Amino acid sequence: MEKDIEKVLITEKEIEEKVRELGRILSKEYEGKNPLVICVLRGGAPFMTDLVRRMDIPLEMDFMAVSSYGASTQSSGVVRIVKDLDTSVEDRHVIIVEDIIDSGLTLSYLIDIIERRNAASVKVVTLLDKPARRTVDFKPDYCGFQIPDAFVVGYGLDYAEKYRNLPYIGILKPEVYS
Ligand code: PRP
Ligand code: MN
Ligand code: MG
Repeated sequence: MEKDIEKVLITEKEIEEKVRELGRILSKEYEGKNPLVICVLRGGAPFMTDLVRRMDIPLEMDFMAVSSYGASTQSSGVVRIVKDLDTSVEDRHVIIVEDIIDSGLTLSYLIDIIERRNAASVKVVTLLDKPARRTVDFKPDYCGFQIPDAFVVGYGLDYAEKYRNLPYIGILKPEVYS
C-alpha cells in the first residue's frame, strides 16, 4: 500500500461493485435518451471512465474543468470555467459525474450553468458525498458512498495533485499535510 495512507476507507472491490450498481441504475434510467455524460476534471476522471463502461446504452461523453475564484482555501462561492464543454447541452439529458461533493459549491454552480443552457434534464452522480462539509444546500441524485469528514485521496481525489491514481479511497496520514 502507498506509504502515505493511514487506512483504506473504501476498497477497490467495493468501488467496483458500486460502480457496477450505479451503471445498471443509470442504464435503465437513461435508456433511449442518449445522455451526455460530463466529467468534472480532474477528480471525476477515473470514476467517469469506469462508470460509462458499466452503462450498456448509447451515450456521449464530454469534459469540463472549473476552479474556485480567489486564493484563499475557503471557497468564495464563485466558480470559473477553465475548460468548457465542446458539446451543446441544449435539449440533452445531462449526467454530471463527480468524485466528491464537499461544500456543494462546484456543483450548484455547474448545474445552474447547464440548466441555463437549456438542457432537457440535469442530474448529478457522485462517488463520494461528505454532507458534514456542506455550505450550500445540495443533494446529489445518485451517490456511491456517504463518508465522514476525513482527508481522503485516491480514485481521482488528490492532495497537492498526488494520489489520484490509487485504485482505492484512502485516508491520508496527517503528517503528510500538517
Ligand atoms: C474537488 C472535487 C470536487 C470539488 C468538491 O475538486 O473533485 O470537484 O472539489 O468540492 P466542493 O463541493 O466544495 O465544491 P478540486 O477543485 O480540488 O479540483 P480537482 O478535481 O482537479 O482536484
Ligand atoms: Mn474536482
Ligand atoms: Mg483537488
